[in-house]
Amino acid sequence: MTSTLLLPADALVLLVGIAGSGKSTFASRHFRPTQVLSSDALRAMIADDPTAQGATEDAFDLLHRLLEMRLRRGRLAVVDATNVEEWARRELVALARRHRRPLIAIVLDLPFEVIHERNAVRPDGPRPRAALTRQTRWLRDSLLSLPGEGFDAVHRLGSADEVYSVRVEVGPRP
Ligand code: GTP
Ligand code: MG
Repeated sequence: MTSTLLLPADALVLLVGIAGSGKSTFASRHFRPTQVLSSDALRAMIADDPTAQGATEDAFDLLHRLLEMRLRRGRLAVVDATNVEEWARRELVALARRHRRPLIAIVLDLPFEVIHERNAVRPDGPRPRAALTRQTRWLRDSLLSLPGEGFDAVHRLGSADEVYSVRVEVGPRP
């Protein structure tokens, strides 16, 4: 059965998943480009390289500022970053609360083998295996802690089929 995720039109949506789990693909399939705030895209805008680690702090600074501007206006905002570390989510959770916006997590929790297969053939080059292993551990911790972090809904997609077939519906603007 195909499930449908119903998202409030003024929500802050966090995509949560390790590198290569398909967050950016999911975001481009279901949301308008202007609704998606991507840490990789912002790193690229700042340093011409989406993986430039030296641009991470500036990229997230910008991401949080853009996010604040959208939330103030009640515009749907989707954060395309790994979001697998609790401390990285904390500022996003606080922003949603400050602007009284619904806070939704969509967790892409694919089997490790699927992610490894895709990682090996990524057009933009494979990410280091150690990074994927570390992020997987953080994702496991996240699945335990997310329910207590103040989200209005946590949607976990646990297989490639589920990620592929899920429908996303955005509700009417309040
Ligand atoms: P990072 O930005 O590195 O964190 O990765 P990401 O989570 O944004 O993953 P991305 O959407 O870039 O997908 C990673 C790779 O998997 C890409 O080469 C995609 O083409 C591929 N991919 C994503 N979704 C699917 C899918 O549903 N099916 C298949 N076969 N490949 C997919
Ligand atoms: Mg991406």
